[in-house]
Amino acid sequence: MSSTAAVSPDRSFHPIKAAALAVVVLVALGFVIKYVLHYYFNYNAGAFADFWPQPRRSGILLHISAGTVALLLGPWQFSRRLRQRHLQWHRVIGRSYLIAVLLAATGAFLLAFTTRPWAWQFGLFGLALAWVSTSGMAYYAIKRRQIQLHREWMVRSYVVTFAFVTFRLFDDMGPTSHLMPEMDRALTFIWACWALPLLVTEVVLQLRRMRHTHAPLR
Ligand code: HEM
Repeated sequence: MSSTAAVSPDRSFHPIKAAALAVVVLVALGFVIKYVLHYYFNYNAGAFADFWPQPRRSGILLHISAGTVALLLGPWQFSRRLRQRHLQWHRVIGRSYLIAVLLAATGAFLLAFTTRPWAWQFGLFGLALAWVSTSGMAYYAIKRRQIQLHREWMVRSYVVTFAFVTFRLFDDMGPTSHLMPEMDRALTFIWACWALPLLVTEVVLQLRRMRHTHAPLR
């Protein structure tokens, strides 16, 4: 299949996809309410703990503000209706999403540089690198007008954007909370929170490609 192939108009409504996007938005909102908002409402050394000394305080504020924008804008990019009916909005939201990722990742690198222990720092760098590379590939693909590749890399980018939410889901709800010490959990989930969802994403994306590619005639 050509990666530059025009996208055929499809006006049908996909209830399962719409429901999945609604769940993603709701879970993302829940994460922001539970883990982000308190930094704005309690601006003091006690609430920020080791994020209070500079430059970590500026880093976390940049990171969570831009991260929230990316987290809440991302799902709209997967709405086919928005793309087909209001392409201009799709472009504006897409650019805003990528700028937000760039700013949030800058904050993430700054935070990762200044955190400890080493193994946790290494895991955070891995996640930050996955974030900028998947989002950078999405941007590069659209600059080259490779729509299908752009779509696929945007899916990967958002899966990584969602990784911190996934981390909290694993950490808060997983049965492991009673089985592993806190640091073991953190060091496991900081890799698993993006590697496992990206693996599932890759299988789905490649299965779709296989279904749309005809086997060569013998
Ligand atoms: C996926 C790429 C992301 C990376 C690489 C990343 C990286 C980081 C780093 C390095 C820290 C500091 C950890 C420490 O010093 O020990 C942090 C904390 C934090 N991040 Fe992110 N982050 C990402 C995505 C997000 C998103 C999308 C949000 C949504 C707003 C977010 C919200 C937070 C919050 C609230 C904290 C404070 C710690 C906590 O309460 O869990 N992060 N992140």
